[in-house]
Amino acid sequence: MAELRDKVALITGGASGIGRETACLFAAQGARVAVADIDEGGGAETVARIAAAGGAAAFFPLDVADEAAWEATVPAVVERFGGLQVLVNGAGIELVRKIPDTSLADFRRVTAINLDGTFLGTKLGMTAMRQGGGGAIVNISSVAGINGQIRQIAYCASKGAVRLLTKAAAMEAAHYGYNVRVNSVHPGTIETPMVHGMVAHHDEAGQRAAMEKLRQMQPAGRLGQPIDVAKVILFLASDAADFITGAEIVVDGGLTIG
Ligand SMILES: NC(=O)c1ccc[n+]([C@@H]2O[C@H](COP(=O)([O-])OP(=O)(O)OC[C@H]3O[C@@H](n4cnc5c(N)ncnc54)[C@H](O)[C@@H]3O)[C@@H](O)[C@H]2O)c1
Repeated sequence: MAELRDKVALITGGASGIGRETACLFAAQGARVAVADIDEGGGAETVARIAAAGGAAAFFPLDVADEAAWEATVPAVVERFGGLQVLVNGAGIELVRKIPDTSLADFRRVTAINLDGTFLGTKLGMTAMRQGGGGAIVNISSVAGINGQIRQIAYCASKGAVRLLTKAAAMEAAHYGYNVRVNSVHPGTIETPMVHGMVAHHDEAGQRAAMEKLRQMQPAGRLGQPIDVAKVILFLASDAADFITGAEIVVDGGLTIG
């Protein structure tokens, strides 16, 4: 199995959680992987894991909210690996806060990373892919981009916008014949540092209880793991999905069924 043979993939948020798992899976499927993140230590660890498994990867420091950084990073990836065929916009932050306690600065910080970062990646990535003959972009939204959630006004707004940004980009790319597909994945509760961070205000016993409560909310009877999402991202990035664009795939173990 080498579903991404001869492809170069840029993965933001590749230093942790879903992004790291996706980077490792892509490399195992033959891609050369550009791991991009603000977390240099975590990014180096992802690259080391890929190298240890015999794959090809390099780390690119990138703040996804910084337009100039994107303008430097995409050409650097193309130069390093000879092209760009896949982009995963995975970098993101969560903010759990009631509306009256959410400042405009809080709101803008979340949307700058989750939404502006995805816009900039889509813009720069799509341009590089067009120049190279085509490609696929996968944006990581959330079930919080489909349903409203309590204490998550900024996160829901950012992820809902990523959902429709994806469809607008897919429509435009198809209309102009760019040969670039754009899709979104919508994870439910996936056991990553992000979710552990959401319960970190409890003491140790409280954290265990909060994670157990989260688990009990899952129709599938377990929390999602990063690999559950990475497999779906791989599918959307691969040629197996070559007639799929503008689609959204929920990966939530049934959390949003009813
Ligand atoms: N874990 C979940 O339950 C869940 C559910 C739905 C959606 N998601 C989404 O999946 C994506 C990955 O989340 P995760 O759970 O793996 O979280 P994570 O915290 O483990 O990883 C997020 C990564 O994004 C990076 N990052 C943050 N700000 C950045 C910036 N400005 N520039 C570049 N990188 C930045 C972090 O350094 C980190 O490596 C996020 O977009 C998140 O919103 C996660």
